[in-house]
Amino acid sequence: MSSLAVLHASQLITLAGPRRARSGKELSDLGTIPDGGLLAADGRITHVGRTPEIEKLCQRDTEVVDARSCVVLPGFVDAHTHLVFAGNRLEDFESRARGQTYEQIAKRGGGIQTTVQATRAATEDDLFALAKKRANWFLQNGTTTIEAKSGYGLTLEDELKILRVIRRVGTETPLETVPTLLGAHAFPPEFRENHGGYISLIIEKMLPAIEQEKLAEYCDIFCEQDYFDVDDSRRVLTAAKQHGLKLRMHVDQLTNGGGAKLAANLGAITADHLEQTGADGISALAKAGVQPVLLPGSVYALGSKKYPDARQMIDAGLAVVLATDFNPGSSPSASMPMMLSLAVTQLRMSPTEAITAATINAAASLGRIESIGSLEAGKVANFVIYDCDDYRELAYWFGVSLRRDVFVRARRLEL
Ligand code: NIG
Ligand code: FE
Repeated sequence: MSSLAVLHASQLITLAGPRRARSGKELSDLGTIPDGGLLAADGRITHVGRTPEIEKLCQRDTEVVDARSCVVLPGFVDAHTHLVFAGNRLEDFESRARGQTYEQIAKRGGGIQTTVQATRAATEDDLFALAKKRANWFLQNGTTTIEAKSGYGLTLEDELKILRVIRRVGTETPLETVPTLLGAHAFPPEFRENHGGYISLIIEKMLPAIEQEKLAEYCDIFCEQDYFDVDDSRRVLTAAKQHGLKLRMHVDQLTNGGGAKLAANLGAITADHLEQTGADGISALAKAGVQPVLLPGSVYALGSKKYPDARQMIDAGLAVVLATDFNPGSSPSASMPMMLSLAVTQLRMSPTEAITAATINAAASLGRIESIGSLEAGKVANFVIYDCDDYRELAYWFGVSLRRDVFVRARRLEL
């Protein structure tokens, strides 16, 4: 049995603790082991502790990795991405610099529709090649699992095509993927005058096909003015549950339309964005135990000033998650360290809270708490060695990569 030991980490950040999402004061407990080490066999962690204890367990053929003067963390878990699309949104990007808003750009036919056209025109292999390159960006930035949404196809065939690409990324690259159907991302041009027709297409065609092919674990919707309203969202998501999907929702990003309350009402696992959510929405999420997924990269890249109220959410006892929202329109970043920086500087989270939100809490939100998100015996050996002595440096040096080595299932990746 091949085994691997990591020894002498200045700080081994384990996130060890209860097998559930962390809230309140628990967000500040990283389970740090100084002069830490771990042992892994067959891709799983078998022991975690101080270096001398781990050293004693090493055998003659154990491969030893020296992490002296380095910090070791679980791989980041990015719980909200739009991985698969063709083309880019450079025109929108420049237009915003000239003062146009995301909403104005969408109204003149730019925005999501541009990406839908490009994605429909691409083959599954084209999209896989693009997604594979991006999978490498995530891994290079220390992320070992991502949730990935469809949503740039908006026809039965094109949504299935995207979900198959997401599955292929998970099987053909070291990056683990958790698939989400986002058929309700926007109304496609052919249904502009027939919204009911598109909702029927999602419910009658997409959901059964996806259940049949087991192509998604979650269903998401863009609940927003000019996109899907609260009634549309309730219809689509109620049907999704009947097809065995769990729910994640884009809510209250641009306007406060009551999306957070609906997420609570429907028993969604997560409510994502929440930039415009008020105190009543936050308390509804708290009562229902919905995890908020905060996406500061999209606020930053849209040049907006209104970040979600993370402090109020933490005070309300919510088990916050941080994610990139990787997508071509509002958040072209695959970097969780960048999100840690934004969390501390813009959301006023502590570095400790931010790291918990980006690892164990994200894993919990994806139904993966038993396998990833912390460094504990029995979990998959997905971890990253960073060239710094203090974990807070990950959030502090922004735009700088401190990543030394990334291990997936105890194998060092060539990046
Ligand atoms: O999460 N808000 C909707 N979806 C994405 C943006 C998609 C796009 O602009 O292409 C988001 O911000
Ligand atoms: Fe998103």
